[in-house]
Amino acid sequence: MTQITQLSIQHFRNCQHIQCELSRGLNLIVGDNAAGKTAIIEAIWVLATGRSFRTAKSHLLIQHQQEALTVFTEVTSSHENKSIASHRLGVQKTTQQSQLRMDGETIQSQATIAQHLPVQLLTPESHKLLEDGPKARRQFMDWGCFHQSSDFMPLWRNYQRALKQRNQALKKQLPKAQVQLWDQTLVENALKIDGIRQTYLKNLTPYLVTFCQSLMPEITENVVCQYRAGWPKNTNDLMALYALNFQKEKALGHTQYGAHRADIRFKFSGQEAINTLSRGQQKLFVCALLLAQASLHEKTLQEPVIMLIDDLPAELDETHRLKLLELLQVLKIQHIITSTSQTLIPILNTNTTHIWQLNKGTLIQKSLL
Ligand SMILES: Nc1ncnc2c1ncn2[C@@H]1O[C@H](COP(=O)(O)OP(=O)(O)OP(=O)(O)O)[C@@H](O)[C@H]1O
Ligand SMILES: [Mg+2]
Repeated sequence: MTQITQLSIQHFRNCQHIQCELSRGLNLIVGDNAAGKTAIIEAIWVLATGRSFRTAKSHLLIQHQQEALTVFTEVTSSHENKSIASHRLGVQKTTQQSQLRMDGETIQSQATIAQHLPVQLLTPESHKLLEDGPKARRQFMDWGCFHQSSDFMPLWRNYQRALKQRNQALKKQLPKAQVQLWDQTLVENALKIDGIRQTYLKNLTPYLVTFCQSLMPEITENVVCQYRAGWPKNTNDLMALYALNFQKEKALGHTQYGAHRADIRFKFSGQEAINTLSRGQQKLFVCALLLAQASLHEKTLQEPVIMLIDDLPAELDETHRLKLLELLQVLKIQHIITSTSQTLIPILNTNTTHIWQLNKGTLIQKSLL
């Protein structure tokens, strides 16, 4: 399994210096409002993904009066037939720059860290995955594609490069031939990205159906995932679509169709999840999506993800909290959960649980008794 064994955070928001050994199961961080609970989850997320889920301004993450923040982890993965592999992964951020470290060396690629530290995040805002525009759903889908297929990242980078150039040409009102220079690369990469996304969703759907049934047995209809490629359904020639829409795209100043416009719609009994599920069910549905992703990841890569859950009680009622914790235990996923009260989180297995009290950025491990 993959787990964070050591976590060390310095000068991250109100956390001056935090150092702890994590359990392979439940890690519960308890603290009052403003204790720094979200900051700890955010610090791990920043290391794993390169960005915060709260702000795009990374200087806000550095503790006031300090020059730099650091987040450091030791991540251990053990496979059934392989020996244990352990990596030390870290990030240091100043207001000017960000430096990634792996096993004592400076590295350039955030993707390398992401590969070794596969984390998923559930926050009180997570239902926005359904509510917000397609970007969040594309990110969800592409997280899976990135981990499932080593081709995905280079394809996506090539696609983004061509898209940027094409959009610039459209914006500058350059002649048609100069815009079309990019069409071939755009289409070739878009079709490959599309293929990976379709396969990923096809593989994910059975897991999603199962977790929806576990978490929301009251819904008898199975969820349907409708994938949208980013261009009209009946298109069989993307190059021709671009040629046909040249004037329209020129007027818009950007590329209207392509892999950058993909989306997934989740439907129950023909209705969009967002229009038919209660707010609580929407949160449970997002849990089911993350659990499905985690299970598929485990099944294909033999590597469980690490689940970060900020403020679990705000997400779910008691029955559903228990159900989610049971599923995480069955799936043997390391989970780091924050809560304002210890009593709100049932401890299912004392052998695989660590509890901490967080007080103004200082962490103290508590006895389980
Ligand atoms: N750059 C910073 N330097 C120092 N303190 C900061 C910085 N940024 C935010 N803070 C403070 O850190 C504290 C911790 O905030 P955080 O959101 O992590 O708390 P929390 O425990 O999740 O609270 P809640 O239960 O209300 O969600 C807040 O008091 C906030 O004002
Ligand atoms: Mg918080």
